Amino acid sequence: MTTAQANGPKPYSELVKPDRVHTALYKDEAIFRDEMEKIFQKTWVWVAHESEIPQPGAFKTSYVGLQPVIVVRTREGEIRVLLNRCRHRGATVCENRTGKTSNFVCPYHGWTYGLDGALRGVPYPEGYNDFDKSNYGLVSLRVESYAGLVFATSKDDIESLSDFLGPAKTWIDLFMKQGAGFGVKTAGEHKFRFPGNWKIQLENTTDAYHFPLVHRSFLNSVDDETGQTFDLMNQGGFVQDLGNGHSVMVMIPHLVDLEEGLDAPIPERFAALADELRRSHPEDVVRRVVRAVGGTGFNLNLFPNLACSMAFFRVLRPVSVSETEISHIAIGMDGGPEAANRARLRIHEHFQGPMGFGSPDDAEAWTRVQRGAEAGPDLWIMLNRSLGVDGVDNQGPGLGDVSAETGMRAAYQMWKRMMCA
Ligand code: FES
Ligand code: FE
Repeated sequence: MTTAQANGPKPYSELVKPDRVHTALYKDEAIFRDEMEKIFQKTWVWVAHESEIPQPGAFKTSYVGLQPVIVVRTREGEIRVLLNRCRHRGATVCENRTGKTSNFVCPYHGWTYGLDGALRGVPYPEGYNDFDKSNYGLVSLRVESYAGLVFATSKDDIESLSDFLGPAKTWIDLFMKQGAGFGVKTAGEHKFRFPGNWKIQLENTTDAYHFPLVHRSFLNSVDDETGQTFDLMNQGGFVQDLGNGHSVMVMIPHLVDLEEGLDAPIPERFAALADELRRSHPEDVVRRVVRAVGGTGFNLNLFPNLACSMAFFRVLRPVSVSETEISHIAIGMDGGPEAANRARLRIHEHFQGPMGFGSPDDAEAWTRVQRGAEAGPDLWIMLNRSLGVDGVDNQGPGLGDVSAETGMRAAYQMWKRMMCA
């Protein structure tokens, strides 16, 4: 099907134009169901960071679109993504968010599965005739990783993850430099839901236009020097389409490569941290850690569900056409100084936390978008900022506009390609 049901059949190609998308994309249930099928079942979907499942038996539960899955490390150290669905009568076999186990036991009738998903045993087996356990393992999805990011897909015949990411890999490598010479590990997660369509959030991570307005309370809460750093409209930032719906929004150009500029003066807000680190670390390590502690100066949007944003992962999960779950996963330095990881968490809480100065304001704006989208039968969502502005759209350093809606246009062109396929 290449048409939306509401408002009479309308081809998807007509709902996405170069400079706008139709509001039906936020509120039509038939479109939502089609998206789950044609996007979330047909491409690479982020499910975990490798550090979340560090040793054999470690697992987390997650989703690929609407499908519940278990991401688990097997005894051999491989990562498997298993559909969280018992092969007897369909119950989920695991409801814990994370943990460590040697097997998964379905709570309903006790069918027991190994870490690789193989069915190991069923209670009272004499009740079955001619039962071959090898036909009833948990279903495994295809899994590939890049730089610790684990993706899964239901499709065996699509391109490799590496090809799908393409030029975004360069930005992932830059993002991971926030390990500051140590590894990168996740450092806790919090979740919330908002009453709005998943694409409202997808847009937001590549939207600098709202920052000085929605995040005024954040800007009022920081010192002058930090305020200048976050004066995003005047930093020479830009947005680039990276292909396949991915994009990068560079907000603070001097924080793109955290291995450069190590001799720059230490910002006032990190002076106390630097002093604390100097008690146990040489000056070069102190400088590397302090430079990386606030994360990178860009947001990398990976279509359809992951943003690598400054110093955290933002993961979106569509729940229904008008409800989305967001996970904010803080990032730490694996084996890095405790003081630096503590500082990371305080920075994270300050903006992204439930009582933070940033994310609650974002959520209010997203909620209003969904509510307002109910008004008018045939209105459009505008994505034309910077489009056609000479020498600004989709340009690199010094040429672009950080508030260009280039990243959103890139995501919706990918949406159209997949929905019309
Ligand atoms: Fe899982 Fe029956 S549904 S054992
Ligand atoms: Fe925001």
